[in-house]
Amino acid sequence: MDDLAQLDEPELRDHAAALGEVGEPFEVREDLAQQALTNLGGLLAGVPGTDRLEVRDSGGGETDTHGPARLLESEALLDVSEEFGARFMVDDAHGIGVTGRGRGTAAHYGLTDRVDLIMSTFSKSLASLGGFVAGEEDVIGYIKHHARALIFSASPTPASTASALAALRIMEAEPERVDRVIAHGEYMRAGLRALGFNIGNSVTPIVPIVVGDDQATFAAWRMLFDSGVFVNPVISPAVSPGRQLLRTSYMSTHTTEQLDRVLDIVGQVGRRLGLI
Ligand SMILES: Cc1ncc(COP(=O)(O)O)c(C=O)c1O
Repeated sequence: MDDLAQLDEPELRDHAAALGEVGEPFEVREDLAQQALTNLGGLLAGVPGTDRLEVRDSGGGETDTHGPARLLESEALLDVSEEFGARFMVDDAHGIGVTGRGRGTAAHYGLTDRVDLIMSTFSKSLASLGGFVAGEEDVIGYIKHHARALIFSASPTPASTASALAALRIMEAEPERVDRVIAHGEYMRAGLRALGFNIGNSVTPIVPIVVGDDQATFAAWRMLFDSGVFVNPVISPAVSPGRQLLRTSYMSTHTTEQLDRVLDIVGQVGRRLGLI
């Protein structure tokens, strides 16, 4: 084995973004989530002489089961990675626009200079389509010429890049929007927990409701849709069987009345399906 990529969530395997960046020769270890922090050194030491890349999902992947613990672990994990010469990549899809006053998880911890690659999507806080990878120029050049997601693909459209840029400018000029969306996430987590839903340890305004079954997830999605609430159903293999969920996402422009209405409707659907 020449190279090793360690992903902290089984779900990351299915994120073409993550695998597309590292390419086929990398062996994917899915067991990092189960490894205690103290084991990471052993894991890295066990593969001497290989090029190692560690991929962390800052928001907690689809199920957010590790949320705050993972965020707190970041610096300690970086220390261990540096000690063993591994590269560190953060999938900040759930962090950009939220944590670190919108600048992301690495910025929140003052670790931006120590993280080798930060990737995120435009499809969440940046209200568009596409995404970015930030890192050293040579590495970005390599990605541009080798990443499956880029080869033979058209460039992002002017409309989607302009939208992402406009969202970024608004975020910089009106940071109160970031505060508001964080507050909305907290409000909904408290409300959903009080109703009795399993929402894992979600830490961002993308709050999962774990359903645990494909059919029940689709049924809940349909009932919510028919009642005027749009969520994203996430089923296996995007998540492991048993962790199927509804992904609920909040915007700074939602009103408290809207959030309360959502809680009311989600509560009714949850009771009808026996989720709560
Ligand atoms: C953690 C994480 N990373 C990456 C992505 C990929 O984003 P996109 O669908 O814009 O490619 C997502 C999308 O939901 C995500 O949740």
